[in-house]
Amino acid sequence: MTEAAFSIADIPIYGRILLAPMDGISDAPFRCITRRLGSAYTVSEFINTHDFSKLRHYQIARLAFQETERPFGFQLLDNDAGRMAEVGARLYELFKPDFFDINMGCCAPRVTSRGAGACMMRNLDLIRDSFRRLGQAVPVPLTGKMRLGWDETDLNYRAVAEAVVAEGARLVALHGRTNKMKYGGKARWEPIRELKQALPVPVIGNGDVNNLADARRLFEETGCDGIMIGRAAMANPWIFAGLDRDEVPIAEVFALARYQVRAMHAFYPGEKGLVAFRKFIKAYLAPCGLPYEKIVQLMKVTELEGLLEMLADIEAELGGQGQSRFGWEGLANPFEKEQKA
Ligand SMILES: Cc1cc2nc3c(=O)[nH]c(=O)nc-3n(C[C@H](O)[C@H](O)[C@H](O)COP(=O)(O)O)c2cc1C
Repeated sequence: MTEAAFSIADIPIYGRILLAPMDGISDAPFRCITRRLGSAYTVSEFINTHDFSKLRHYQIARLAFQETERPFGFQLLDNDAGRMAEVGARLYELFKPDFFDINMGCCAPRVTSRGAGACMMRNLDLIRDSFRRLGQAVPVPLTGKMRLGWDETDLNYRAVAEAVVAEGARLVALHGRTNKMKYGGKARWEPIRELKQALPVPVIGNGDVNNLADARRLFEETGCDGIMIGRAAMANPWIFAGLDRDEVPIAEVFALARYQVRAMHAFYPGEKGLVAFRKFIKAYLAPCGLPYEKIVQLMKVTELEGLLEMLADIEAELGGQGQSRFGWEGLANPFEKEQKA
């Protein structure tokens, strides 16, 4: 049997590269796809536990996951430790995830303005409380995902990481930017190395890994246990299978696209799946040099069959040939029987 690369408490992880959680991107269909391609484990989009506790029907789509995604964790986001623990306990009862992750990195002003996400990093007591209470409420391990700090004058990643580990976190992921940087500037990787050397738990490095050479460099420069890839994975999910985008055959791109659009169409109600798929297909086809009008046309299709026909035409024009080595063509759509949210 292959040896685990690292583990989250007693959960062995067989791989070192995984999809970063991304609101509006890392939904269940995309997570299943990236997991099949080799992403080591999965984390949900953030679950706002304030909203969950107030709404009778939280969007089911945000909570749904497939067994094939395991090890799977819900990522929770809130500025209230008690509420986070209560909702965590309920989510555990309902869905039995393998672990929970606490979001200490979201930089959206509507989130930070109420003290949640990256703003938690300014409140160590809240962080300690959240890990302690959630840890008491659920029987599975906790992990945390954070940034460098609030801004350049407040780079407290080390203190935050040590605090969460002291409260029982079994893995820490660090995005090498401050809250103030949002997604701009350049991610700094030295702090990832510092945490790797300082912490007794696995450290995941994150930020600006755009290709396999970057991934290798991040491992070499920091010694981190694993890396999370966000934006680049949206354009090249094949990176989890060890392929840079320019190594992916045309037929492979279209086989995945066809599988994904069917999955998304079945997963979301009405036209929502097709609309949500547009950002993926735009990113997948970006390197193909299609005329602008063609992309515009593609973005306007509102029916699955029409979209599949158009994809077939474009593939033929681009000279796609052969079958996918990942077997998308023969794979059952796991979302066909899902209740639509
Ligand atoms: C559209 C978008 C949504 C994101 N949503 C989340 C989220 O829900 N939870 C989270 O921890 N990070 C979220 N992030 C941050 C990513 O997980 C990651 O830390 C960041 O994009 C840096 O990695 P990258 O340079 O590989 O993209 C999001 C990023 C993007 C671009």
